Amino acid sequence: MSQLLTIVSLLLSASTAVVSTPCVAFDINWNLLAFGLDGKDYNAGTQDTWAGNNNKATDITGSGRPSFDGANTTCYLSQYTNAIYVLNGDSQNPSSIYIYDATANSWTTQATTTNGFNPAAFDAILDHDTNVFYALSGGNLFSLDMGLLKAANSTPLAWTNDKAAPYPADYEPVMALAENHVHFLDVPGVAAGSADIFVIHYSYFQPQPQPYPLTNGSTLPATYGQATSFFQNTGVQQEFAFIPEDSSAVYVINVDSNNTQVLAGPTIKDPKATYFASVDTLVQLSSNGAVSYLPYQQGNTAANTAASWATVSVLATVAPPSSPSNSSNGPLNGTSGGSSGNSSSTGSGSSGKSSDAPSSRVIHASVLAALAMGALALVL
Ligand SMILES: *[C@@H]1O[C@H](CO)[C@@H](O)[C@H](O)[C@H]1NC(C)=O
Ligand SMILES: *[C@@H]1O[C@H](CO)[C@@H](O)[C@H](O)[C@H]1NC(C)=O
Ligand SMILES: *[C@@H]1O[C@H](CO)[C@@H](O)[C@H](O)[C@H]1NC(C)=O
Ligand SMILES: *[C@@H]1O[C@H](CO)[C@@H](O)[C@H](O)[C@H]1NC(C)=O
Ligand SMILES: *[C@@H]1O[C@H](CO)[C@@H](O)[C@H](O)[C@H]1NC(C)=O
Ligand SMILES: *[C@@H]1O[C@H](CO)[C@@H](O)[C@H](O)[C@H]1NC(C)=O
Repeated sequence: MSQLLTIVSLLLSASTAVVSTPCVAFDINWNLLAFGLDGKDYNAGTQDTWAGNNNKATDITGSGRPSFDGANTTCYLSQYTNAIYVLNGDSQNPSSIYIYDATANSWTTQATTTNGFNPAAFDAILDHDTNVFYALSGGNLFSLDMGLLKAANSTPLAWTNDKAAPYPADYEPVMALAENHVHFLDVPGVAAGSADIFVIHYSYFQPQPQPYPLTNGSTLPATYGQATSFFQNTGVQQEFAFIPEDSSAVYVINVDSNNTQVLAGPTIKDPKATYFASVDTLVQLSSNGAVSYLPYQQGNTAANTAASWATVSVLATVAPPSSPSNSSNGPLNGTSGGSSGNSSSTGSGSSGKSSDAPSSRVIHASVLAALAMGALALVL
């Protein structure tokens, strides 16, 4: 009987394993924050310290944090409040918004009412000037006003269904913010190289797409990918990066000049990678927990074109990326030494990781297993 229970609990434990979803963000002093990396949260400091030289990211794991076991966890910087807002941070509370006060290093949980917003399927931006979320979910544009919260309010905040988006139902949104305009990329029917625009101030979907040509006259591809805005030290974002799913390049769209720079694609080619930018860096978080960055100088195309991706060593030291042991994240085709992992590695020698190490990002839902076991015990 106890053997049976053990076997059952092992099976349950294996079948309910969930992959953690970390996210990265910056605070207003451009310290890189990595949440849920190998189960912990870290402050990696500013870009000048990332190479290592005996530096290590600081463990900032604190109480009240989400478990970072949600699918598609996303993080947003509220620049006025120096807070990070986490959506989908906890699979048990998918509609809660977790607030990290980066000044006080403390967590609170903000309840929301969804009013039709689907926390399992959306893309969103946090508007810089109003601190309002705009999200496309189920074909509708939703908004949620965060006020100036850096700690949760006891009153739930409401998602508001503002209006139907003028896009086909199967549009998988790619959204970015610049100059108080929400940019939608890869909209079906819109020419490659152009974005559709929602003007926040007038709550208005601009009917004409805006072209953002490359300086040589070519266009960025019309394809799914990730987008993230470069911050300014003060004021609203003016540029955003678009990284197509194949990671072939980084496109930086400037919505003032209407031009697009083409920069080096990430070394790690990972369609599930997520991105976050500061004033001077684009950071990639790959699905196995590797954190890499591309240095960036606003207004210096020559420097940006020459820039290359590097590993955030201070994070790799404390939270080494896992080997891609679970195929649910798709193939990882990284080529830089040690940062991608390869479960069938024949030993390039540079990674220093055991090829058969279990993925430390897989969290066994032992609580569920224990509950199920308890239920089984009752039945027996
Ligand atoms: C996560 O995102 C993927 C891709 O958009 C989507 O197919 C999936 O349903 C999402 N899952 C959850 C639980 O949010
Ligand atoms: C323009 O630049 C892009 C990116 O470097 C390149 O792929 C494309 O072929 C170029 N187009 C022309 C017409 O030179
Ligand atoms: C960029 O495009 C917008 C909209 O067409 C236009 O108002 C603006 O003048 C353009 N900027 C430049 C620098 O051409
Ligand atoms: C990877 O994880 C998924 C979802 O948890 C699971 O269905 C699948 O069997 C796992 N694959 C391997 C190779 O472990
Ligand atoms: C990774 O490489 C495999 C085999 O070469 C290829 O089939 C797959 O499309 C690549 N994936 C990405 C994301 O580049
Ligand atoms: C992993 O390594 C093996 C052996 O060197 C190689 O055949 C395979 O393509 C690699 N896979 C990836 C995803 O890099």
